[in-house]
Amino acid sequence: SSVSKFLPNPKTVAPKAGVDKGPIHLVEAGLPEQLRQLGWNVVFDGHHLFEEISIQDDPPIGILKNPRQVSKVCEAVAKTVGSHAKNGQLPLTLGGDHSLAMGTISGTLSQYPNACVIWIDAHADINTASTTDSGNIHGMPVSFLLGLESTIPEFAWVKPKLTADRLVYIGLRDIDAGEKRILKENNIKAFSMHEVDKYGIGKVVEMALDHVNPKRELPIHLSFDVDALDPSVAPSTGTPVRGGLTFREGHYICEAIYETGCLVSLDLMEVNPSLADADAVKQTVAVGCSLVRAALGETLL
Ligand code: ARG
Ligand code: MN
Ligand code: MN
Ligand code: MN
Repeated sequence: SSVSKFLPNPKTVAPKAGVDKGPIHLVEAGLPEQLRQLGWNVVFDGHHLFEEISIQDDPPIGILKNPRQVSKVCEAVAKTVGSHAKNGQLPLTLGGDHSLAMGTISGTLSQYPNACVIWIDAHADINTASTTDSGNIHGMPVSFLLGLESTIPEFAWVKPKLTADRLVYIGLRDIDAGEKRILKENNIKAFSMHEVDKYGIGKVVEMALDHVNPKRELPIHLSFDVDALDPSVAPSTGTPVRGGLTFREGHYICEAIYETGCLVSLDLMEVNPSLADADAVKQTVAVGCSLVRAALGETLL
């Protein structure tokens, strides 16, 4: 069918070591071959560890950790995703720290300026430098993409090309106070686990698409943080939060987005094999592979 592209996998810049190994596990579990079985022409460049970007001296900016390293890696990812999208390929980025979405979404928007973003996560990742308590940039990428955070020269390359009305969240359940304020002030549509319980996942995905893509004609970037799933389903991740999506709810989201025919770019993030025992890692990697297959056309029947 179409041409897909495995992007080089950026080395993590996460505060918790080990998230960089996530992509390696997903590939070693056979994801490229699984996607070939689905009819995709998979181009896999190998694991990209971005060693050339390693920055020796990277003191915090305010409380932001590894800011120059994160910025450089994301900038490189933006270029790579952008050029693959330009070639008509569907970039699949396996991660890794969710800060990378600054790069992947910048890259997607460079080729598809009218793309909408569907962000599946326990967290909103929309802190600014002034609201973050942790200083972890993986809790901030959305604020950079929206231009809410524009005070840090090191991140000046991130152009605020995403608008609040073209962003929607599903799965939220651990939002910082400052983030709640930002979501309200900017009128950002979010379906938390409360709405998933209330309406069911089918209705929630329909409402989410009606909000960002009413005619189902805009390109879609799907950014899926594996911690959106319940920790009983995906335990190997850095910031697990109980009360998450079931296995089927996660897969339903991916299947329904594939069915729109609008998917142009996909992230699967925050698989972290160093944080759990071997069985938990195996389980999380298997779920990660299966979410990607669902988003790229695998059906149950
Ligand atoms: N809101 C918290 C923070 O800003 C948690 C963010 C978790 N994000 C993630 N990509 N795991 O640090
Ligand atoms: Mn992370
Ligand atoms: Mn998360
Ligand atoms: Mn996230």
